[in-house]
Amino acid sequence: MAFDIDMIKAVYARMGDRIAQARKVLGRPMTLAEKILYSHLYDAMPSTPFTRGESYVDFAPDRVAMQDATAQMALLQFMQAGKAKVAVPSTVHCDHLILAKEGAKKDLEVAVNTNKEVYDFLASVSNKYGIGFWRAGAGIIHQVVLENYAFPGGMMIGTDSHTPNAGGLGMVAIGVGGADAVDVMAGMAWELKFPKLIGVHLKGKLSGWASAKDVILKVAGILTVSGGTDAIVEYFGPGADNISATGKGTICNMGAEIGATTSLFGYDEKMREYLISTNRPDVAELAEQYKEHLRADDDVYANPAKYFDHLIEIDLDELEPYINGPFTPDRAWKLSEFAEAVKKNNFPAKLEVGLIGSCTNSSYEDLTRSASLAKQAIDKKLKAKAQFTITPGSETVRYTAERDGILEIFDKMGGVVLANACGPCIGQWSRHIDDPNRANSIITSFNRNFAKRNDGLAATHAFVASPEIVTAFAIAGDLTFNPMKDKLVNEDGVEVMLDEPTGLQAPPKGYGVEDPGYQEPAKDGSKVQVIIDPKSDRLQLLEEFKPWEGTDLLGLKLLIKAFGKCTTDHISMAGPWLKYRGHLDNISNNMLIGAVNAFNKATNKVKNQLTGEYNEVPFTQRAYKAAGIGSIVVGDENYGEGSSREHAAMEPRFLGVRAILVKSFARIHETNLKKQGMLALRFVDKADYDKIQEDDTIDILGLTEFAPNKNLTIRLTHKDGSVETFEVKHTYNEAQIEWFKAGSALNLIKMKEKG
Ligand code: F3S
Repeated sequence: MAFDIDMIKAVYARMGDRIAQARKVLGRPMTLAEKILYSHLYDAMPSTPFTRGESYVDFAPDRVAMQDATAQMALLQFMQAGKAKVAVPSTVHCDHLILAKEGAKKDLEVAVNTNKEVYDFLASVSNKYGIGFWRAGAGIIHQVVLENYAFPGGMMIGTDSHTPNAGGLGMVAIGVGGADAVDVMAGMAWELKFPKLIGVHLKGKLSGWASAKDVILKVAGILTVSGGTDAIVEYFGPGADNISATGKGTICNMGAEIGATTSLFGYDEKMREYLISTNRPDVAELAEQYKEHLRADDDVYANPAKYFDHLIEIDLDELEPYINGPFTPDRAWKLSEFAEAVKKNNFPAKLEVGLIGSCTNSSYEDLTRSASLAKQAIDKKLKAKAQFTITPGSETVRYTAERDGILEIFDKMGGVVLANACGPCIGQWSRHIDDPNRANSIITSFNRNFAKRNDGLAATHAFVASPEIVTAFAIAGDLTFNPMKDKLVNEDGVEVMLDEPTGLQAPPKGYGVEDPGYQEPAKDGSKVQVIIDPKSDRLQLLEEFKPWEGTDLLGLKLLIKAFGKCTTDHISMAGPWLKYRGHLDNISNNMLIGAVNAFNKATNKVKNQLTGEYNEVPFTQRAYKAAGIGSIVVGDENYGEGSSREHAAMEPRFLGVRAILVKSFARIHETNLKKQGMLALRFVDKADYDKIQEDDTIDILGLTEFAPNKNLTIRLTHKDGSVETFEVKHTYNEAQIEWFKAGSALNLIKMKEKG
């Protein structure tokens, strides 16, 4: 699973110079986030500083990680780029498609059968293009990355929102959509709005019941779910240096819950210990050598208010455990106030299931601390009142915990060990419940607790807490229990208390594993065949989008004039459609089915101008496509807001829509459209939106002189034969116009590759 030591050496070797140049440009000491960002610029150092929260900057990340749900379309697209190999070290992790039902062994067997075609595809495509492949059961992407690939001072992107977990090892690690991963794997620049900086100064030291999880649960309460938007959260201070690397990972992981671009800690002794215990002494040695670049400059720590846009102080000596929820991770309750909150708000007090583990909290430290409570329960003759599950983050963690007798303790307490996979954290949980409509409570050590997230049931009240608190609550079976002061009655009718949890940050005998579940890619993949069953309804090879025909676009039909909000969920819904993420034709059957038609205010009901009938949007568009007629989609403000999912741009392109014309775009969606070779246009005068009528035939004029900052013209021919024209603007630069002409950005890369 060779992490790329030469790549790490190269990153460190250039860091010093780049940081020195950047310090000159900024004219002041630098935070750690700035050091990493400025030393990963795709282009040369600018002569003036970037504006935080405003400038769009091209970066060159060191690594890419993908999970199996998002990797499918990313790699299908990468295949289009015509490259022999990925440009940076990349990995695929099979963790999202395993349903938790009976327990690890059985569930894994079922998943391997059910998802065979997806796994075969991912294994073969990884093998061909030099991508490390982690089989189902090997572990959860973020835990595996932390154990094997993350390194202080590095920069990576991952196609999953909790990629920032690697900030626990001092990395700038950012969650992105598949299209961004394709860019980086193809050697292109990756664009990001230069983040604002939030500093969190940790004083004191964690002790007793408080854990790293409580730091982020408290921060979430302070900043709320959107308080970290467009910002990097940098943790520092004596309290930070006392938290284990995996605890730091937990804090960074859940930074996603406050909307942060990412979170990170500076390099310290705990990181060095973790690198050594995970068999990377050479990385630890390198990090020691370059450690001045792997922390902020001294004055940042001495005078943080001067350097951060927002500063928070937390005294770990006074930190008490938190329980956040239900339904949102920023509803933070102190343990001492939680029982009262449960009663006041009528949350179901009986706890039905406690779930520990996941990518957020399944370190050796988490498991040993939870096991110390489980052991007390057994010794003190307490029977766990709630169901209890354990999701190890990786096979390494699972194997080590089994070897060291930790899993046996959970087993004795009645716990069920689930597969090393996302499982209930992503709703892959076939929960056994008598009445799915009954209001009920569960508590997890995961990160997200939106309604239905874990078990698909709207009546479930999901709370989030540290694994220690989850374990204590599972023993008590009661959310009003406060393990710091309340007694429980054991099997003999005797009142007993749980002592504070204790644990180990790393296994004394080191981590062990027999089969980590890793497949090293072929050195030369040119002969490797990518396996896709042509009959598959989940996977489909992509075909190149056609290049621009070199003329104006005439005779387009209006497909839909969308009214009001039209997010990427309206354009390409998730839920049951997730299954088709690797099959563009099938997933295109969800295209715009959530968008509201401005003419009848209905969803998924538009006029087919060829027949005059009202049909579903994808059906209507397929009819235009079959007739060889292009179409246009008109939208309102902030069209395409939401996620960065590239399907929302690929589906209309695939079905033959030629242009998206809106009042305004969400920026990422606009870029995604451009990358797919679509025309993304905006009204110059937003009132022209009203001129568009249901039966219009539309021409787009001026394309033969398509140039940056030059408007195009729309000509509408209404049903009564009357004609109206107006100007539309666009934001294409020279390079993006080339994407349009080639049919897509990937087509262009391929053309260049061929020479
Ligand atoms: Fe994400 Fe949970 Fe898996 S946060 S990576 S779904 S364990």
